[in-house]
Amino acid sequence: MSAVLKETPRLAPMREEDLDEVMPIETSIYTHPWTRGNFADSLRAAYQCRTWRVDGELVGYFVLAVAAGEAHLLNLSVAPGRQRRGFGGVLLGETMGIARGLGARQLFLEVRPSNQAAQGLYRRFGFRKIGVRHGYYPAREGREDALVLSREL
Ligand SMILES: CC(C)(COP(=O)(O)OP(=O)(O)OC[C@H]1O[C@@H](n2cnc3c(N)ncnc32)[C@H](O)[C@@H]1OP(=O)(O)O)[C@@H](O)C(=O)NCCC(=O)NCCS
Repeated sequence: MSAVLKETPRLAPMREEDLDEVMPIETSIYTHPWTRGNFADSLRAAYQCRTWRVDGELVGYFVLAVAAGEAHLLNLSVAPGRQRRGFGGVLLGETMGIARGLGARQLFLEVRPSNQAAQGLYRRFGFRKIGVRHGYYPAREGREDALVLSREL
């Protein structure tokens, strides 16, 4: 009997050439997705941009900015057919490890009040609401607030 060896999940620096795979995921999971230019800017800004592949297939990615002892999670995404299998939790754990390693003491992020899945994930990881940015996000009709969440690292 021959065993099929599966590749272990792999976290890697995001590169410009990954954007051909990132963009279809991004546009399928957000009502107001980042543009290719937003990702290209993040890569140029040397933010911590990572891809997560399982058997070579892109299943998630994140963009994290770390400076002056603070980290900001700017994008955390899991492919539509791969959600609710623990990948989001793994990726969030990775962002915290990277932020700690770069000297951050606090991790901040924004989330839409309507995004129950993400809020469930962040609550599970100990994030607490520290504020609201009114009208922060574009929405289908008008604007939507952002909840500002944070946790110590
Ligand atoms: C938010 C997101 C990254 C979560 O990734 P995921 O791989 O599905 O999350 P996990 O499987 O690791 O779930 C971890 C926990 O988060 C919470 N959670 C995840 N999806 C949820 C949902 N649809 N409803 C409620 N809680 C949810 C649960 O507590 C879950 O634990 P459980 O499955 O044991 O109940 C993913 O749903 C996603 O990419 N959504 C679209 C993009 C997005 O909104 N990104 C965040 C922007 S702030």
